[in-house]
Amino acid sequence: MRERPDVRITVLDAMTYAANEANVAEVASDPRYRFVRGDICDPTAIREALEPGTHAIVNFAAETHVDRSILEPEQFLKTDVLGTHVLLEAVRERNVARYLQVSTDEVYGDVEIGSSTETDPLRPRSPYAASKAGGDLQVLAYHTTFKTPVLITRGSNTYGPYQYPEKLIPLFVTNLLDDETVPVYGDGRQVRDWLHVDDHARGILHVLEHGDLGEVYNIGGGNSRENREITTELLIATGREWDTHVRHVVDRAGHDRRYSLDASKAARLGWTPQVEFQRGLHDTVDWYRKNEAWWRPIKSGEFRAYYARQYAAR
Ligand code: DAU
Repeated sequence: MRERPDVRITVLDAMTYAANEANVAEVASDPRYRFVRGDICDPTAIREALEPGTHAIVNFAAETHVDRSILEPEQFLKTDVLGTHVLLEAVRERNVARYLQVSTDEVYGDVEIGSSTETDPLRPRSPYAASKAGGDLQVLAYHTTFKTPVLITRGSNTYGPYQYPEKLIPLFVTNLLDDETVPVYGDGRQVRDWLHVDDHARGILHVLEHGDLGEVYNIGGGNSRENREITTELLIATGREWDTHVRHVVDRAGHDRRYSLDASKAARLGWTPQVEFQRGLHDTVDWYRKNEAWWRPIKSGEFRAYYARQYAAR
């Protein structure tokens, strides 16, 4: 909003477990910002939220956590596939000029060698990834069938402030700050490509404003690291030791070994990541260190039951 003073934004959010009003406190009193509580699966909520003349819809809404999709897949299908369909129908009905689907590198599946390009086949391997691929296919089918003005971004593993502490980096940072162990899945040699949240947000905005309709753009951080390397960095940053603070646990079912994105198409459009990984990671650790008031209530609430269910028997 800072960079686009003439833009008005409505945020529609179902406020499920990972939502937090504190995340938008900075803009809450801005007259250009409006908040509506609602579910993207509910066509009435979408109709009511859409202001006449709405120019663009960006679909950030999703169930996102792979481990939760293994425990309870159904909600992923509802939000990620059906919710996408409801939004696409609203775009048609209201002649919205641009619809951007925020997707993920997980739709390409496990990438043994090389990097995924946008034309690679989709081979999702978890219920989460399959639901996101289902959403992407709906989006592309609407473009082909109805000329719906769509764009898709596929981002790599995102990290930074305000991330719900179920994902690798915020979970490990907050556990380590609390002097607890961190659960490394399997041999910890799985590779992810890390992207700072600010770079991800800039990539989405860039594609929304400059992308060609009907096209897919990979938004990759260019920072491939094994989980073991990330774990070591976080141990150093928090002054903990591998021997006392790492617990090797049973691997995630169907765990994708490696993701890697070729982001040269987005680069040709004019986007490249700006945040240097070491700096981004250390700033993130600092943010969690200074913002205990943000994450401590989360980790003491519903999260405790989830953590026990996810990790106790491993
Ligand atoms: O690649 C983009 C995707 O990144 C997004 O589409 C997903 O929404 C997002 O959740 C993320 O998926 P991952 O499964 O890669 O992220 P997660 O943080 O859960 O795990 C990162 C890696 O760390 C993965 O190899 C599993 C491992 N891991 C994760 C957790 C939570 C552990 O070893 N221990 C853990 O406790």
